[in-house]
Amino acid sequence: MTTLGVNIDHIANVRQARKTVEPDPVQFAFLAELGGADSITVHLREDRRHIQDRDIFLLKETIKTKLNLEMAATKEMLEISKKLLPDYVTLVPEKREEVTTEGGLDVKSNVNYLKNFVGYLKDSNIQVSAFIDPLNEQINYSKEIGFDFIELHTGKYAELKGYDQYKELQRIIESTHEANSMGLIVNAGHGLNYNNVEKIASIDNMNELNIGHSIVARALAVGLEKSVREMKSLITQN
Ligand code: PXP
Repeated sequence: MTTLGVNIDHIANVRQARKTVEPDPVQFAFLAELGGADSITVHLREDRRHIQDRDIFLLKETIKTKLNLEMAATKEMLEISKKLLPDYVTLVPEKREEVTTEGGLDVKSNVNYLKNFVGYLKDSNIQVSAFIDPLNEQINYSKEIGFDFIELHTGKYAELKGYDQYKELQRIIESTHEANSMGLIVNAGHGLNYNNVEKIASIDNMNELNIGHSIVARALAVGLEKSVREMKSLITQN
């Protein structure tokens, strides 16, 4: 059965917009687990634009499911992850100027560096995933480097429509089978929402989907009316 990893970065985005204490992603991780999240995903960015160091250490102490730390393959992040010991690390490319992770990690161009990096994480018993585009050569190199998992980038699938989207779906299906046959566990994510998730979730041996933005957007849609009613009631009762 495919499981759900809930990415709570966007809760932290709202907090950081005011640099205050709410909404606290740690508390919302608890609610995500109540809703059935099988893991909690956070991306600790170099510029700390949303998730903070404090969040990941509190999450590690408080969540009951699994912690998936997304990070760039840098020395700073290696040190942090070896202290944190999350259940797994997903290596992602990171550019300061991007709004969100744009493409997959180019594992092919960084084989030796990544072999060492993944080795250091595995020495600390952390399982490691590579967020890659659904391309055969990236899958082959992920296997060679020693990743336990890959996370297939579904951003393009999410953006495309009609026959183009169908072709991208076939590419993701073939990539999943290819990676599975090499012994890699396959996750997927990026841009998945309430309209496009089912076709990806029903791929044979799809392990876990990591979803953030659409879930947080839906939380606003289903929760805003109640929160306005509560405020209105406080204002009008006097
Ligand atoms: N997987 C990875 C590796 C990501 O970087 C992100 C975005 O932070 C996601 C999944 C979730 O994407 P979305 O917020 O579009 O659901």
